[in-house]
Amino acid sequence: MDQIVIQGGNRLSGEIRISGAKNAALPLMAASLLSAEPLTLTNLPRLADISTMSKLLEQHGVSVLEVDDGKSGMTMTFDAGGVDNTVAPYDLVRRMRASVLVLGPLVARFGEAKVSLPGGCAIGTRPVDLHIRGLEQLGAEIELEGGYMTARAPNGLIGSKFVFPFVSVGATENLMMAACLARGETVLTNAAREPEVTDLAHCLVAMGAKIDGIGSDTLTIQGVTSLHAAQHPVVCDRIEAGTYAMAAAITGGELELTGVSPGLLDAAFKMLGEAGLEIEDTPTGTRVSLGSGGLKGIDVMTEPFPGFPTDLQAQVMALMSVADGAAMITETIFENRFMHVPELSRMGANVNVHGASAMVRGVDHLTGAEVMATDLRASSSLIIAALAARGETVIRRVYHLDRGYERIEEKLGACGAVIERVQET
Ligand code: EPZ
Repeated sequence: MDQIVIQGGNRLSGEIRISGAKNAALPLMAASLLSAEPLTLTNLPRLADISTMSKLLEQHGVSVLEVDDGKSGMTMTFDAGGVDNTVAPYDLVRRMRASVLVLGPLVARFGEAKVSLPGGCAIGTRPVDLHIRGLEQLGAEIELEGGYMTARAPNGLIGSKFVFPFVSVGATENLMMAACLARGETVLTNAAREPEVTDLAHCLVAMGAKIDGIGSDTLTIQGVTSLHAAQHPVVCDRIEAGTYAMAAAITGGELELTGVSPGLLDAAFKMLGEAGLEIEDTPTGTRVSLGSGGLKGIDVMTEPFPGFPTDLQAQVMALMSVADGAAMITETIFENRFMHVPELSRMGANVNVHGASAMVRGVDHLTGAEVMATDLRASSSLIIAALAARGETVIRRVYHLDRGYERIEEKLGACGAVIERVQET
């Protein structure tokens, strides 16, 4: 397993191109199953999860063709005209929970699907009960047996109304995709409004779907009999952008983040502005630097979009660990998303967890240490801490990082970080 070694203390300065969003690319790839005609996606990030989803689609019989591997992301074409297998096996699903996003498209187009239950992960039990209940509301019969969800809708799905008891990104995506091919109208209430959900909706419309209320918490879908070929650019990764913004701030540096669409991080950037960051839109993206007043502790509560994203919670904790004052960070989305706390503490952070909240008291500086990545976003919080820490930090199990950050050591290294990837000794 690889590790990343960082010598802290350098100010970051330069430009980073933000890649396409992992959490948009994965449902977009699953959407290719809805049509017998090819879906071409551009601005795809080069990430482990994208490879895993490609493998999953290929074992369903989707032909996956990498058309271009240019500077502005990958272009890939997914042709589901020859799908001959509607089983998503445990071996692939356990590696990436987002595999569950093939369930809705498969049962909607083929009337059947057998998808392994994804199981939990480091940040929580991650149930899929809303995915199941929503598809049952659309007329699917779903049985849980042997660790698999077996869904059947031999006469097709039927449009219906479904109210989400709480916001679920993945369940919204699964149901929105399934509803595109259901007979009649589907209304999804209390739907997720994340930009990745909106991006998926725009792609589905490009494929011929009829969706109203895009970007709102109420999605109305008129089912159609089939969807057609389309080309769609993957929206930029707001979590990657927020991560690098905090990396710039903690080093007292300045970064130009190119390719960032406005409006994706308004709540996060507003809060980070209160913490002392200077964030301004430029003709090519967003410039982020630390203001003259330095870093100030602020309280943060994670919420569904447009609130502060849970996927930036670990990163803001690292930032607040060296702020002036205290920060109360409350995680409202996942039940176990403080795995980064003991690792940050090893670097000298002063964090006390009380249930769903963590009280961070800023310290003068962090000190490099050997630490372990536990999940994707915890890994990036350790990177942020290490960039500012005194001395050397060795981060183990960086395969977590590779799931969501494209070439992070190259992007940071090009902006002045002393960072390298080495084989674990
Ligand atoms: C998506 O996960 C993202 N993953 C996550 O990003 C992100 O943290 C999360 O949305 C919240 O924004 C992808 O898009 C691939 P949810 P998802 O359904 O869809 C519970 C990252 O770091 N829930 O919105 O799985 C669930 O346990 C990853 O990139 C149920 O109880 O999240 C959680 O507590 C991590 N039953 C809450 O709802 C269900 O059927 C929100 O989950 C579904 C979810």
